[in-house]
Amino acid sequence: MPVLTKRWLQWPKLRSVRARPILGGSPDGCPDIGFLADDDRHFELFAAWLYRQWSAPRGETLENRRQALRGQMRIDRLPIALVAYWQGTPAGIVSLRRNDLQSRLRVGPWLSALYVDEALRGHGIGGALVGATLSLAAWLDHPEVWLFTTDRARFYERLGWERVPPIPEELRQNPQPLVFRHATGI
Ligand SMILES: CC(C)(COP(=O)(O)OP(=O)(O)OC[C@H]1O[C@@H](n2cnc3c(N)ncnc32)[C@H](O)[C@@H]1OP(=O)(O)O)[C@@H](O)C(=O)NCCC(=O)NCCS
Repeated sequence: MPVLTKRWLQWPKLRSVRARPILGGSPDGCPDIGFLADDDRHFELFAAWLYRQWSAPRGETLENRRQALRGQMRIDRLPIALVAYWQGTPAGIVSLRRNDLQSRLRVGPWLSALYVDEALRGHGIGGALVGATLSLAAWLDHPEVWLFTTDRARFYERLGWERVPPIPEELRQNPQPLVFRHATGI
């Protein structure tokens, strides 16, 4: 039995969120979600996705992105990266971290760097990663999770996230960060 499977079975809350351990496929159409820390075979691919999406446009290096991601290979202490597989193929990634927005340092933790492989979008993988992040936060005893987006507000609204009114500092930013929060149910 792979390590990931063993860890998953010790984590009943996450199992309940449309996700199962990697057992060789997803016949019911749900992605498999687990910790990056448990399976780093596709580390370079995940780093490359995040680099292309966020680091390169900001002029940051791939090595910086690798270092940040290595720091998220944890299980029970933030920051933590979760990864999704679709029929055995690496499909997406998300992080739960303590801070993500300079204007809101007193709240958190934050869902951050959600990314789904372009070829696999529209299958519910992004939504499942968001759900798994909420379960992870609950498991770590956080009553709510925060996030910000500049262009995906509708995606999070559809998933039931509550838009938080902007504060003056955020109104001055371009693009403006749209802040959301969601209770974890604990
Ligand atoms: C945002 C993102 C994570 C969504 O991932 P996803 O796996 O497509 O998400 P889901 O399938 O759960 O839901 C996506 C929704 O948008 C639609 N959608 C988005 N991209 C789509 C695509 N390429 N093809 C078809 N539908 C798409 C889906 O129909 C779905 O709508 P619904 O909730 O009404 O059914 C993904 O588009 C992505 O990685 N984007 C680039 C990085 C990014 O913007 N991250 C978010 C930063 S705040």
